[in-house]
Amino acid sequence: MNVFKPNTAELQEKINMLRKKKNAVILAHYYQEPEIQQIADFVGDSLELAKKAAQTEADIIVFAGVHFMAETAKILNPSRKVLLPDLQAGCSLADSCPPDTFGELKAKYPDHVVVTYINCSAEIKALSDIVCTSSNAEKVINSIPKEKEIIFAPDKNLGKYLIEKTGREMLLWDGACIVHEAFSLDKLIALHKENPQAEIIAHPESETHILKTASYIGSTSGMLNYVKESPKNSFIVATEAGILYEMQKDVPQKELIPAPAKEDNSCACSECAFMKMNTLEKLYKCLKNETPEILLEEDLMEKAHKPIKRMMELSQ
Ligand code: 13P
Ligand code: SF4
Repeated sequence: MNVFKPNTAELQEKINMLRKKKNAVILAHYYQEPEIQQIADFVGDSLELAKKAAQTEADIIVFAGVHFMAETAKILNPSRKVLLPDLQAGCSLADSCPPDTFGELKAKYPDHVVVTYINCSAEIKALSDIVCTSSNAEKVINSIPKEKEIIFAPDKNLGKYLIEKTGREMLLWDGACIVHEAFSLDKLIALHKENPQAEIIAHPESETHILKTASYIGSTSGMLNYVKESPKNSFIVATEAGILYEMQKDVPQKELIPAPAKEDNSCACSECAFMKMNTLEKLYKCLKNETPEILLEEDLMEKAHKPIKRMMELSQ
């Protein structure tokens, strides 16, 4: 039996019609598939997406990203219906920090300020004093009085980078992103030898040895701005390969080379399997059926909102 599957343009058209009819907004992260980025009302990094989610007056937010991002949108704008095309779209960093074990660590250091990277669950945010993203982490750390000690979770790579940048000692949670830990230093160095004209740019979730090779380190939006403004014409990009779609659109004349992964795979790059769980078809179905929806307990939302609000105030 032949099962009819609508093509990309048909699905995009159907999504467009539904979006208008239901007064929905589609927010997408740079790591989403190109056909999802094309249909989105807004594509951004995690901070920009959180800001858009907080401000939107749409009745429905379809969040084409991962679970913690959709949860953050719900916490920031609880009266909206927040949909995530695939509820299984998680995050290895968020998974590396279970609330009970994290709560035990926090209890051992009651006087420490708890700073958490936005890539964590609502339960972890509820245990935090302030949240940060890769684009404002340095500012957030610098906002904490010098005499205060800090716990930073869950990303140890971003944590180590921040210790170096700010000179602040921090107690680090032992979490990491599987995508940004997949880059091979040996292959990266070999690739750079073949392309000495290229500048290496990296996301701070990458390991220290990768960051040491980079001319620029920043969030997904930071990297996009850097390639646009740099006089250089060639870049080796050490982050999830989905960003290359938007980057190449911004700088069509420049050469963008994905940083190589340790394991040989079809794209010779690093892709986030969680981000890629969202497909255009799932996005269409979720908007049509208004499920899967992100639902959180009132009390949890209230507790998680405080540290996110503190971050937002610092990032006006
Ligand atoms: P950005 O905040 O830079 O978009 O990072 C999100 C993310 O999940 C990186 O892995
Ligand atoms: Fe999480 Fe890494 Fe995927 Fe970002 S790229 S969503 S940090 S697993």
